[in-house]
Amino acid sequence: MNIVLLGAPGAGKGTQASKLVEEFGTPHISTGDILRAAVKNQTELGKKAKAFMDAGDLVPDSLIIDLMNERLQQPDAAEGFILDGFPRTTAQAEALDELLKKIERPLDAALLVDVDFEVIVKRLTERRCCKECGYIGTTADASCPKCGGEMYQRDDDNEATVRNRLAVYEKSTAPLIGYYKEQGVLVDVDGDRPVDTVYADVKKLLKL
Ligand code: AP5
Ligand code: ZN
Repeated sequence: MNIVLLGAPGAGKGTQASKLVEEFGTPHISTGDILRAAVKNQTELGKKAKAFMDAGDLVPDSLIIDLMNERLQQPDAAEGFILDGFPRTTAQAEALDELLKKIERPLDAALLVDVDFEVIVKRLTERRCCKECGYIGTTADASCPKCGGEMYQRDDDNEATVRNRLAVYEKSTAPLIGYYKEQGVLVDVDGDRPVDTVYADVKKLLKL
């Protein structure tokens, strides 16, 4: 499967992606995860990206496009990929189209996970993630239900930054819905239902 997950921050892209990975083993490529690892390891990319991420703004296209050109040409991506958090601008979507042509892997679908913004603000301010395995949970998880690891709150999951991320999404990323509709690959799912109900629909829509 070669898919792009679209949707606002907190719509549940990472949650659905990890279920697909668990069942199908397809590589999950999340630009947010790659960038957070780069910040943690204080790499050159991490140093350049940190201030943008802390403010909830987008990291410049040139950095992201270089990063993804390299990542999508790694051997594991030849078996398929679930792109999560990329593309996020029209320039990124155009760069992805070029690259997919080059590696001869057309997109099967762009899946939009659709959730109301006020629901998202509550979800993101209550989100907690595992330091050890990356499990995505909530304030209800005192420790990680998967590995027992310590749960932490992402630096950008405070209400002011969440609202800015939503505004940035509306302005820069939402136009990609039309972009993929025009290509005939857009499918959308109502993400404001229990995780497993959403997942059952995701599989139907992706014909899995
Ligand atoms: P990124 O890491 O991509 O964050 P995001 O898009 O803001 O998405 P999230 O990870 O916040 O949400 P999600 O949709 O995966 O939701 P989740 O499954 O966790 O990006 C972070 C930053 O990096 C950006 O702001 C930017 O600076 C930079 N960046 C990244 N990519 C970039 C790019 N391409 N270009 C430029 N800059 C880039 O779920 C959220 C919560 O809801 C969880 O607590 C979960 O348990 C809960 N939940 C999930 N599904 C359900 C459900 N069905 N019902 C109830 N609760 C649910
Ligand atoms: Zn864990």
